Amino acid sequence: MRCVLLGQVLVLLWLSGAWAEVLVQPDFDAKKFSGLWYVVSMVSDCKVFLGKKDHLLMSSRTIRAMPGGNLSVHMEFPRADGCHQLDAEYLRVGSEGHFRVPALGYLDVRVADTDYDTFAVLYIYKELEGALSTMVQLYSRTQEASPQATKAFQDFYPTVGLPNDMMVMLPKSDVCSSAGKEAS
Ligand SMILES: *[C@@H]1O[C@H](CO)[C@@H](O)[C@H](O)[C@H]1NC(C)=O
Repeated sequence: MRCVLLGQVLVLLWLSGAWAEVLVQPDFDAKKFSGLWYVVSMVSDCKVFLGKKDHLLMSSRTIRAMPGGNLSVHMEFPRADGCHQLDAEYLRVGSEGHFRVPALGYLDVRVADTDYDTFAVLYIYKELEGALSTMVQLYSRTQEASPQATKAFQDFYPTVGLPNDMMVMLPKSDVCSSAGKEAS
């Protein structure tokens, strides 16, 4: 079952042309990647995302490296009606830094670039309601992205075909700040 599904995913990725082009951070270190990140900026050609991107707020990820290379990821999304929390496991695929997240419809996730201390650029190829899309997220250790982080993000997303008008810088919110941080 799992092999058949993975086979289909590989074919989809191959057909999309996305497969070979995106590299993973060399010598990716899941331990150094662990801890708290803010998702400060996103760009995606997903229609659902484009419909709501101007209302999205900065979310967070608390990442824990599991033995064997999977990541346990706690997410907090501030919304108008409160703080939404979600936990997902990022399943390692082959090399370190390369994952899939069945629970979120993420077929292919790659940590494309990171210095671990300030920023990370994540490439996500996903399926939502039958539609395939590409997303790039900028993770920052602080709520203000450094100029180097912003540059790494802006240099990367055009290489996977995403235009500037699909990009959003996410505003800060304190809806989630009081709850859940100690849960990590
Ligand atoms: C990652 O998690 C999956 C699902 O829980 C598990 O089947 C797999 O063995 C794990 N991978 C490693 C390398 O531990």
